[in-house]
Amino acid sequence: MSAKSTLGKNLQNAIARGGVEHAIAFCNLQAMPLVDSLSHKYHANISRVSTKARNPADRPNDIESQLLEAYSYQWKDSIALKANVQALDEHRYLFTKPILIDNALCLTCHGTLHNGLKEETLEFIKTKYPDDEATGYSLGDLRGMWSIVIDKKEVVQSIE
Ligand code: HEC
Repeated sequence: MSAKSTLGKNLQNAIARGGVEHAIAFCNLQAMPLVDSLSHKYHANISRVSTKARNPADRPNDIESQLLEAYSYQWKDSIALKANVQALDEHRYLFTKPILIDNALCLTCHGTLHNGLKEETLEFIKTKYPDDEATGYSLGDLRGMWSIVIDKKEVVQSIE
């Protein structure tokens, strides 16, 4: 939740300060000191994945694909999407949480042309992300999910 709200605030500020092109660097977890410090504090690997990724590094692995597919079925059936925790192996948990296009702001860079996304923004995105697949979304769409891998011992310590 902290990461999500920081991301939203950063984006809004960045657009206000320097416009969309300036803000493009801000929908990026690496640019977030909070994510960095949480990763270190909990020895967690925090990422976002999507079947239509902008950054190829955000494409899902096998288990993430399965979870995204399940979320996608639920979303199509209008079932409320929930966070999920499962054991990844003997030592680690995988925590996932769906990411929705829950804000018109997202459409500035993930929408369709003439529904939030401007031609010049799309051109600019293509120069930075030639393999971009992350446009064409509407408000309420399932965009992807948080995927957080955390050591079991970190979780046990925080319960104690
Ligand atoms: C100013 C442009 C901009 C806005 C506004 C924006 N994004 Fe992004 N988004 C990007 C860029 C650029 C990336 C690729 C970041 C990277 O290289 O890691 C991205 C990546 C993502 C990813 C990771 C998966 C992928 O495609 O690589 C998710 C999930 C995401 N955005 C969701 C959102 C949501 C939800 C909103 C609204 C709250 C939003 N974005 C608003 C530009 C934007």
